[in-house]
Amino acid sequence: MNPTSRGWRRLFPRLLVLAAILAGRASAGAVRQAPGLDARVQAFLESHDWGWGNMNVPAVDGRTLYEIILKNKYTRALEIGTSTGHSGTWIAWALSKTGGKLITIDIDETRHREALENFKAAGLSSIIDARLGDAHEIVPSLPGPFDFVFSDADKDWYPNYLKAVLPKLLPGGCYATHNVSAGRGRRGSGGGGSYLELLLGLPELTTTVEGNGNGLAISYKKKN
Ligand SMILES: C[S@@+](CC[C@H](N)C(=O)[O-])C[C@H]1O[C@@H](n2cnc3c(N)ncnc32)[C@H](O)[C@@H]1O
Repeated sequence: MNPTSRGWRRLFPRLLVLAAILAGRASAGAVRQAPGLDARVQAFLESHDWGWGNMNVPAVDGRTLYEIILKNKYTRALEIGTSTGHSGTWIAWALSKTGGKLITIDIDETRHREALENFKAAGLSSIIDARLGDAHEIVPSLPGPFDFVFSDADKDWYPNYLKAVLPKLLPGGCYATHNVSAGRGRRGSGGGGSYLELLLGLPELTTTVEGNGNGLAISYKKKN
C-alpha cells in the first residue's frame, strides 16, 4: 500500500491505537523492579565476603536457585536456614523480578540480625520476611502454599521439613535441598536410608542432583 494513499491514511491511526493497547497489556503483566536494583544487588554480592564460618552456599549454588525461580516464574518462596543471607539474597533477587516474596527462618539471633542488615544493604528487605525462631515449630505452622522451597538448616531434620512442606508445595513447584551428598545431609531419612534416597523414592517428585560436590538436590513436584 502506498503510504500516501487514502487507505493507508485511514489505517494508520487504527494501527497506532492497536499498538498502544498491546503495549498497555504487556506492561500490565510486567513486574516493576526498583530502578537500579540489579546493579545494587550485584555490587553487594560481589563486595561481600561470604566466608565459610556462616555456612553460606557457594555463589554457584545461589545462582542456580536464582535461575530456577526466574525460569519458572515462582513467587511464593520459603527458605529454611537463613544464616547471614547469602542464598536468601539470590532467591529474593529473582523474586524481585517475578513479583514474589520470601519467608526465611533462622534460629541463631546473631546470624539473623546480620542477615537483616545484608538484605537492607542489597535493597531487598521489602521482599523478605525474615523470622527468628526454631524452624521445627515455624515450618509446620506456615499455611503456604509455596512454589519454591530451599531447605538448608539442620540436616537431621531434613525429612521432617520435607514431610511438613510437601503437601503445601504447589504442583510444578520446586523443593531444593542443600548438602545432600555431604556430612550429615547424606544420612538421615529416618528410615535407615539416606535423605537423597528418600527424595528419589517419592513418586510425586522428580529429583536431580547438581552443585558443587556437596550436592544440591532439585526436586520438582509433578503436575498430576
Ligand atoms: C547452612 S546454614 C544456612 C546458609 C544459608 N542458606 C546461606 O547460604 O546463606 C544453616 C543455618 O540453619 C540454622 N538452623 C539450624 N537449625 C535450625 C532450626 N532448628 N531452626 C532454624 N534455623 C536453624 C543455623 O543457625 C544456620 O544459620
